[in-house]
Amino acid sequence: MSYKTENNGSWEKIYSEQGEVQHEILNTVVEAVRIFKDKKYHHILDLGCGTGRNTFYLAQNGFQVTACDISETGVNIAKKKADELGYKNIYFGIEDMYDLSYPDISFDAVLCVWTQGHGMRSDMQKSINEIHRILKPGGMTVTDFVTIEDPTFGVGEKIADNTFIGGRPGEENIPHYYTNEDDLKSMFRNFSFVSFIDRTYSFKDDNKIEHIIKAIVVQAVK
Ligand SMILES: C[S@@+](CC[C@H](N)C(=O)[O-])C[C@H]1O[C@@H](n2cnc3c(N)ncnc32)[C@H](O)[C@@H]1O
Repeated sequence: MSYKTENNGSWEKIYSEQGEVQHEILNTVVEAVRIFKDKKYHHILDLGCGTGRNTFYLAQNGFQVTACDISETGVNIAKKKADELGYKNIYFGIEDMYDLSYPDISFDAVLCVWTQGHGMRSDMQKSINEIHRILKPGGMTVTDFVTIEDPTFGVGEKIADNTFIGGRPGEENIPHYYTNEDDLKSMFRNFSFVSFIDRTYSFKDDNKIEHIIKAIVVQAVK
């Protein structure tokens, strides 16, 4: 089985059946926007934009935004909303974060929220390398990773070290890799400055069931 294909297929299904599933703007993104403004960044990539909650927040804050996702349905929902709301500073694309079509040194910053960790460890390293490649020198990524402290760690079928499939309701076909700070230090070794923030996300789904995600937010400068 191709886990990448399954990954894409699962999100297509989620967005086709449920439309927008994420609405709230997370602390991680509010903090990122504050930093991007302080650093006077201009062009931001929202990598794994889904239906665009963070894309619109970035655009509202005056950045030129490129937003991409592997799910065509997710991008189409975001695009339609952008047209309805009259945004002129957003460019959308269908992209695989493990093999991006953007040239080297394209962006001041890459925001990638709730997207890393879908896949195997080698996939995660590929996407970190891709982010490094497309960032300008002095550019920054803000991204987050589910850790081995997460309540779903160990749930489902183990398909590789720290990698499980079937443990997350709604994402049954998507493999998830669980990481920790030492592992991330190694994966971000090509960046010149990296900081790690422990974060607990909690949210209620449409059935009012509370979910907890134990994550590490990485802020890394090229
Ligand atoms: C939990 S959603 C988060 C969406 C958005 N970042 C947000 O915070 O609302 C995860 C997203 O990652 C996208 N995704 C998964 N694998 C991907 C890949 N290989 N390349 C690009 N996007 C991917 C999915 O299609 C989905 O939209």
